[in-house]
Order: sequence, then structure tokens, then C-alpha cells
Amino acid sequence: MGTESNLINDNTVAGEQSSSAFKLVGFNNFIRKNPMSDKFTVKSFHHIEFWCSDATNTARRFSWGLGMPIVKKSDLSTGNTTHASYLLRSGQLNFLFTAPYSPSISTTTTTGSIPTFSHADCRNFTAKHGLAVRAIAMEVEDAGTAFSVSVANGAKPSSAPITLGCDDVVLSEVKLYGDVVLRYISYKNPNTDPTVAASNFLPGFEPVEKTSSYQDLDYGIRRLDHAVGNVPELSPAVDYVKSFTGFHEFAEFTADDVGTSESGLNSVVLACNSEMVLIPMNEPVYGTKRKSQIQTYLEHNEGAGVQHLALASEDIFRTLREMRKRSGVGGFEFMPSPPPTYYRNLKNRAGDVLSDEQIKDCEELGILVDRDDQGTLLQIFTKPVGDRPTIFIEIIQRVGCMVKDDEGKVQQKGGCGGFGKGNFSELFKSIEEYEKTLEARTIPT
Ligand SMILES: [Fe+2]
Repeated sequence: MGTESNLINDNTVAGEQSSSAFKLVGFNNFIRKNPMSDKFTVKSFHHIEFWCSDATNTARRFSWGLGMPIVKKSDLSTGNTTHASYLLRSGQLNFLFTAPYSPSISTTTTTGSIPTFSHADCRNFTAKHGLAVRAIAMEVEDAGTAFSVSVANGAKPSSAPITLGCDDVVLSEVKLYGDVVLRYISYKNPNTDPTVAASNFLPGFEPVEKTSSYQDLDYGIRRLDHAVGNVPELSPAVDYVKSFTGFHEFAEFTADDVGTSESGLNSVVLACNSEMVLIPMNEPVYGTKRKSQIQTYLEHNEGAGVQHLALASEDIFRTLREMRKRSGVGGFEFMPSPPPTYYRNLKNRAGDVLSDEQIKDCEELGILVDRDDQGTLLQIFTKPVGDRPTIFIEIIQRVGCMVKDDEGKVQQKGGCGGFGKGNFSELFKSIEEYEKTLEARTIPT
């Protein structure tokens, strides 16, 4: 286990980071630095796009399960005969669900609002991966520059910059891992008012009428905190993403740090300059008694892909109460809660941050608690959200690490409280228990 004093925060100047190939050193030896090394200006996560075979049903399930109203649409009713897309939003979190229409109805002109959409790619993607994330989108200062800088630094291009609408929005894409793309979005006149900025999305999307969606749904989810990928091999994946983004290593864990005796992984968290875009990646560790859950993912997903999306709540207790009410009626189910001993120890571990009542709420709702040298993390994981044991959702709330920015505004530092390293073994235990129940139900051939 690592000690807190091993995490040193200093704002080292750009260029100081070693250019040598990535090597895992483990939590004990990892020194946290922010070299401010981004190769282009990154603002924030913008949206996550899922590709599926029926967007209406998938979007409604996520809307109900997560308390995210469907706010915009681009489908037959808006003149899009290429694909059906629905946008869900809660705070700054945007989830987009897209499915193809029949290619035979849009043979002459492309009416799609997502210019990079491809019938063939989307069909192959859903056949191969099931329900999965196609794009992690970031708002950048200039999607044209981000693309050209990325490609010049080794990124594999997926789509050259395309200008949308009346010269207002630029969209480009590079390959991230597996069939997942990193999408860059920029606005010519970005609105500084966050509520107005949030109401914009992409040209071609129209507001959903109030009566046709549960516009009042809100369980307290506010933004995407991190988007995690599973890859077969961490070292080349980390080198690749670092090389074209300039992102720095924010944290890392090895199997020795986080694995149980039966399961393991290595993990690296990459972050942009502001550390508000966090892209962790995991690789499986082999030779353990039971197969690594990352390996299980890679088999069921047929390769690399997004493993989980961590959604930050402004009130995790409220979010969990609302989500759990709906678990059995169309919402999301959660992994089994840790045993009572976990919560008996919690007072010692976090009694200075959480009240007795909050510790009781954690136990009632199955929330895990971890901390690093700076703050505290409350977290809980859903079961895989689709048919396959692949993608799942994490709900988190970070406590502490409030700092003043240049304008005197108090903000929370990115990654405050870590990612749940201390809870990894709890998560593994619960995932392994879950996998055992699946194995018990496998019909012998
Ligand atoms: Fe996470």
C-alpha cells in the first residue's frame, strides 16, 4: 500500500517531464507532477456518444435510470434520415445515443447531424461490441488545431476537421483505443455563460418538446469526472495518448497495489493541464488464480473499449436514493454492497470528514469511501449496464481540495480524493462474486 507522503504535488514547468517510454513504477514510487504539457488547449469533457442499434429505447433507459432528461434530438422528425440521435443532459454531463436508420432511405444525400457517422461502421461496431461508447468528446479551443497537432504527433486520424452549421462549430476525431475515437469540438464564439453554453450542442439538433420527455428528472448528477478504457497492453496505449495530447500521468496503480490474490490490473490515469479531463486506462494482469476482470472485458467487448464512466454527483446520497428506487423498474442495478465490517472500520478511516449519519447513509446505500493525501472520494459502481459484462457506470462525489482560481473563484481540484485505490480490492471482491454467479448459471455444452 502506498503512503500519502508519496504523493507530491508540485507544478513543474513544461518540458521537465521525461520523454522516455512509459514505465509503471507503482503507487509507492509514483510522484505526482503537473508539467502543464498539453499540446493544444483543452477545455473540458463535452459529451460521450454511445452507438447502439436502437437509440430511442437505450436513451430512455439511461434517462430514467440516471435522471437525465432527453433534451435534444436529431431524427426523422427533424429531417435526419441517416441516424437517430438523442441527447441526455444533467448539469454539464451530456450523453448522446445514436443508432442507424436503414441505409436505403438516405442514399442520395447525407442528412446526419453527426458528420462522422457511418452506417457500416456503426453496424459493425454494435455487432462487435454490443452497447458501447464510440466517442469521448472534449471541447477544445480549436478542433482544427487539435487535430493537426495530434496527427503531427502520431495520432491515427479518424476524421479531419469538419465545419458544421454557419461556421460555428468544428468537429474532428482521432483514434483513441480499440474502436473508440477521441472527438474534438470547438465553437467559434464560445459562450462564457455556462447555462447558455450548455444549451448549445451541435447544429441539426432540435429541442425535445417538454411533454415528450421527463424534463424535470434530476437526481443530482452534474458532470463527467473520468472515462476509463480497458486495453490489452497499457504501455503502448499510454505512450500513444501521451504523445499526441501531451497529457501527463496523474496517478498509477499496479496489480500489487490494488489486486486481490485472485484478480489484478495495472492502471494509469492521464490528465490534461487543468486535470478536469481524466482518462485512465487499465490492462489485465495474467497468471492470477482467476481471470482478470479486465481480460473478461476484453473478451466480451472483442478488444479495447470504454470500461466505465464516472459521473460526479452534487449529492451522492440523493442520487443513490433516486437511482436505487428505479433499479428494479428500468433503472440500473448496483454491485453488491461491501460487508458490514467495511462500515465498522469507516469511522476510523473517514470519521473526520463524514458524520455518523453520513456513514450510516453510506452503509444503507452501499457507498464506498476512500481518500488520498488531499481529499475524500465517495463512490459506487453499477452492474454492467448492457447485455455483456463490459461497460458500467460509477457515481462519485469528491469532498475537499477547494482552491481559489486566478479570479478568486473557489473550485475543487480535479481528481480530489483519488480514484478509489483503497476500494479496488472491495470492487474486485464484488465483481468476482458477481462473475461466480454468472459461471454458476452457465449451461455446460
Ligand atoms: Fe473510476
